[in-house]
Amino acid sequence: MNAGAQVVVIARVLLPAGLEPLRERFEVREGGLEATRERLLEIAPGANALVADPSVPVDRELLDTCGDGLRVVANFAVGYDNVDLEACRERGIAVTNTPDVLTEATAELALALTLAAARRMSDAERDLRAGRWRGWDPAAYRGIEIWGSTVGVVGMGRIGHRYARLARGLGAEILYAGPSAKPEAESELGARRLGLDGLLEASDVVSLHAPAIPETRGLIGPRELELIGPDGVLVNTSRGPLVDSEAVAEALEGGTLGAAGLDVYEGEPDVPQRLLAAPRCVLLPHIGSSTVPARDGMARAVTDNVIAVLEEREPPSRVV
Ligand code: DGY
Repeated sequence: MNAGAQVVVIARVLLPAGLEPLRERFEVREGGLEATRERLLEIAPGANALVADPSVPVDRELLDTCGDGLRVVANFAVGYDNVDLEACRERGIAVTNTPDVLTEATAELALALTLAAARRMSDAERDLRAGRWRGWDPAAYRGIEIWGSTVGVVGMGRIGHRYARLARGLGAEILYAGPSAKPEAESELGARRLGLDGLLEASDVVSLHAPAIPETRGLIGPRELELIGPDGVLVNTSRGPLVDSEAVAEALEGGTLGAAGLDVYEGEPDVPQRLLAAPRCVLLPHIGSSTVPARDGMARAVTDNVIAVLEEREPPSRVV
């Protein structure tokens, strides 16, 4: 322990790329990967910085438990829907995130899910492993090709744009929906902006890259899935609450949705049983940013933000 040093509480874990520089400067307390809420509340008092991640709700109770000395909540993610921003604002606590470093990783995973769902890879692999493969079958697992398809990007931010570039590279036409026009995507990729319904109807693949905010909660429900249709593919690497999982499972079961590729879920790590059993569905455990460069970059970004605030400088990626 560093006597008299400022205290950094890591709600769960931080990779060594970020952890070591913090340890050199501050007293660091870690909850551990399996930290319960009780454990977190135990180690929180006296924190000057709190490192959280998407699975850690940072609410008023936690902020109050940290105490008046808390100056920054550094989220180990680009998304920060787990943090009560208003409560942080009221208390003058800075909130930071980790943009940019995970753009490629997340866009590439969205593309991987797109291809895997479009080509029914989960069903095919599951059957093979279970000994159900009876030989080459011209009618089996027929999917769609990205070449010549229309890909709809919901949320043309950094990750959405990168994903659109990758899809364009595979020969897709790009549509997008979002709160503002993106002239760069339009000139670079020939992307066309449509309203959400128009995009869902016109796209063969719909990929979600929007933040979880009240306006996007339940963005894709039964009506929207119907618009995507029996040949359409839905991909979600953003946040679970954007999608009604039960409705997705029902649409897959009933054949009214072509396929789905999901990396995120409401109430993680629980995944609805019905989704686990649904056909034409590729499911991953929130690994969008899980590459070595992205996760190390995120850990370093967390640390740069913490050090900046605790040393009275402007953090590189402040949200609040
Ligand atoms: C993010 O950064 O928001 C990701 O979901 C974490 O993997």
